[in-house]
Amino acid sequence: MRAIRYHKSGTPSVLQIDEIKQPEPGPNEVLVKTRAASVNPVDGVVRNLSQTNHPKTTGSDLAGRVKAVGDGVTTYENGDRVFATGLHAERFSGGSFADYVIVPTDLLSPLPKEVSFKEGAAIALVGVTAWRAFINHADIEPGETVLIHGGNGGVGHIAIQIASLMGASVVATARPKHYSTIREFGADFAFDYTRDDLGKAIKSECGGVDVILDHFPKRDINTNIDVLNLEGDIVVIAGKEMTISDITSIRQKEIDLHMMSVTNLVTHRDLPNIGKILTYISRLLANGQLSVEIDRVYDFDTAEKAYRALQEDSIVGKIVVEP
Ligand SMILES: NC(=O)c1ccc[n+]([C@@H]2O[C@H](COP(=O)([O-])OP(=O)(O)OC[C@H]3O[C@@H](n4cnc5c(N)ncnc54)[C@H](OP(=O)(O)O)[C@@H]3O)[C@@H](O)[C@H]2O)c1
Repeated sequence: MRAIRYHKSGTPSVLQIDEIKQPEPGPNEVLVKTRAASVNPVDGVVRNLSQTNHPKTTGSDLAGRVKAVGDGVTTYENGDRVFATGLHAERFSGGSFADYVIVPTDLLSPLPKEVSFKEGAAIALVGVTAWRAFINHADIEPGETVLIHGGNGGVGHIAIQIASLMGASVVATARPKHYSTIREFGADFAFDYTRDDLGKAIKSECGGVDVILDHFPKRDINTNIDVLNLEGDIVVIAGKEMTISDITSIRQKEIDLHMMSVTNLVTHRDLPNIGKILTYISRLLANGQLSVEIDRVYDFDTAEKAYRALQEDSIVGKIVVEP
């Protein structure tokens, strides 16, 4: 079978198609025949930094059909439609870009028939991210105002919809060409994330905000603190560094700063179960309350192009890769 792997760290150019032996599921694992996978920025981070587990198959998300189950698996059987995420984690040398993939059952959920394989693969990681940020961390309440940076992106476009479903008023940032699209996702206000007076503009048009999803803290953390209301929450999902210019304002506003990574849900069994979150997300998809936007589709042969497009282009929603 084919696997899209890298034998050393580096840019998308290190990806290659390898012919490898089909794996067999161990205890509490399922073998999935992949029908779709999707690209995520974290795949690039892992590929660039990883020095171990080589050769490693790229990819975190997938959707497909169960082909075989390991010992102890009672909830899945051959032919079941499923989707999963978390396969980028260092816990595995396998990823999701292969014809057949081993998935531990804690990272897996049934995929309802109303949801396509492409949709399942597209939403998995970004859906769990937005869910964990708003439901586990910020605990959004109806009537609150939520600021989401990068509203057209993978996480952003799902985060807008989840915040709207929770009854929040949504402020989102994006390039102006995406304003009408992010309004369709449910944003009530749209701002250009490149403007220097972003905080001032948000405060004058919308007042303060209660919850912020921040994936660019190095640039935005002080603006975010400035626009946040008393007892507000900032959930930081990316970045390696940030400088808070004055912590007095955080103390005076009693701000809660949350730091999170879905990878932690893969490695720490006492944190919420990814499979359970995927099941909730799949119900919202199946009944039409949530939708995932697929910007474009590549195949395994052009996986390198898919990762380059994610880095270089302004995407709406997700890029999917099919075997
Ligand atoms: N902590 C976690 O568990 C977790 C999980 C998933 C993702 N993440 C991280 O979250 C970030 C977003 O992921 P994603 O999948 O949504 O990526 P994505 O699909 O590439 O979307 C990124 C979004 O950010 C926008 N953007 C780019 N530069 C920006 C800036 N300076 N300020 C505000 N927005 C900016 C992009 O806009 P344009 O491209 O249109 O310019 C796009 O809307 C990534 O850093 C990813 O690694 C973390």
